[in-house]
Amino acid sequence: MHIGIIGAGYVGLVTGACFAEFGIFVTCVDKDEQKIKSLKKGKIPFYEPGLDTFVQKNVAQGRLKFTTKIAKAVESSLVIFIAVGTPGRGDGSADLKYVEGVAQEIASHIDGYRVIVTKSTVPVGTGEKIREIISQNLREQTDFDIVSNPEFLREGSAIEDFMRPNRIVIGAKSAQAVAIMQDLYKPLYLIETPFVITNIETAELIKYAANSFLATKISFINEISNLCERIGADVHMVAKGMGLDQRIGPKFLHPGPGFGGSCLPKDTSALLKIAEAHDVHLGIIDAAVRANENQRAYMVQKIRDEMGSLKNKTLAVLGLAFKPNTDDIRDAPALTIIQGLQKEGAKIRTYDPVAMKEAARQIPKMKCCKDAYDAVKGADAVVLITEWNQFRNLDLARIITLLREPFFFDLRNVYDPQKMKAKGFRYFSVGRV
Ligand code: NAD
Ligand code: UGA
Repeated sequence: MHIGIIGAGYVGLVTGACFAEFGIFVTCVDKDEQKIKSLKKGKIPFYEPGLDTFVQKNVAQGRLKFTTKIAKAVESSLVIFIAVGTPGRGDGSADLKYVEGVAQEIASHIDGYRVIVTKSTVPVGTGEKIREIISQNLREQTDFDIVSNPEFLREGSAIEDFMRPNRIVIGAKSAQAVAIMQDLYKPLYLIETPFVITNIETAELIKYAANSFLATKISFINEISNLCERIGADVHMVAKGMGLDQRIGPKFLHPGPGFGGSCLPKDTSALLKIAEAHDVHLGIIDAAVRANENQRAYMVQKIRDEMGSLKNKTLAVLGLAFKPNTDDIRDAPALTIIQGLQKEGAKIRTYDPVAMKEAARQIPKMKCCKDAYDAVKGADAVVLITEWNQFRNLDLARIITLLREPFFFDLRNVYDPQKMKAKGFRYFSVGRV
């Protein structure tokens, strides 16, 4: 089978490379010429562990091709995935201009039956909107089907998540389109992946509901962690005690500086807007979003309260990406926290293994350093924001001698409070005393 994927970002490129790995012939399209140029040379334009090997192998074996021309993918493919961005607009709703633009262009090249699949996260009703756009822009009358096939991969473990997903969701009206999608995902039947086959609207909502539920879990444990600090409880033990109940589960109960990234923040806001448009108030999700904003602000307040004034203090921020194993800084808590600290008069020295270049473009007034020790040199405090593996095993004896004052704010609870205090640090974490 030949398929086309429009949008070669985190989702499109992973999807393309993984389907090629299943033996399918894939044409990936992106309008960004620079991106396509580097992909043709086997260079991945962002950091995602393992993706380069998959791309290089499948390009060499002739199953994965790159182009800037949608026509090339549409003409040669039975199934066309839309995997372009759906960023948040100022009011929180999802901006569909890229998806709609792509739908229009696809329509102008269709010359026979095609299955058009949204992989992008899109508001409920978008599938039907795409159907209309395509019908109105077809250059010749032909059948086509619309499918919603939302993606649940996480950045940093995208390949594993795609190759071994918890489930595949397929929303469609047409039995023929469902059968084609099932055929495409056949290798996953062998590992007994559950398939959820439903209508388009339900599939679209499953994606937003899942991300919003994950966000709610994080905000829930973050609020509990703030209470733990006041009453002398240990949030990790609380999370363990809760998570062992199989109805709750242990995942996404790790406290920290709040959820970030290109999806949980924008998707919670977009779901609120979708509900608002239908006169429904989603109080729990609304509260999860507000708790997340408060959590970021609370991190700044905590650092200021413990250190006194931050005026002319130098802080060494370790980690900028919204989580480890990605260079993505979209809505990263580190950026909001750094801006908050700067507002309080602090000077920032920072280090992140892969996200520093892009972060420096957004926050020019910070000193980018060559490693964690360089960042800490002469600083008044360490503020650990992203739990990269290399920050889990810092030479603490060296860190304490490099610091001007022994403050250590561990916003990801990487270290043990008692051990850190025994080493002489004034150590503060999240939800543990
Ligand atoms: P991204 O910004 O990394 O990639 C989108 C790509 O689409 C860009 O390379 C852009 O140049 C390209 N594009 C835009 N308009 C185009 C056009 N007209 N023709 C060809 N290419 C075009 O975005 P992403 O992170 O991959 O997210 C894509 C979608 O998938 C979003 O809806 C997102 O919510 C969803 N999603 C993302 C993740 C994730 O982990 N990043 C996971 C699940 C779902
Ligand atoms: C998230 C979802 O987990 C994916 O299933 C989904 O496909 C994706 O959004 C999407 O729609 O784009 P991702 O944003 O890559 O994936 O990252 P997560 O691992 O979910 O982490 C999101 C944020 O929550 C990070 O800032 C992370 O540090 C934070 N987090 C996560 C916590 O603070 N505590 C936790 O217990 C888990």
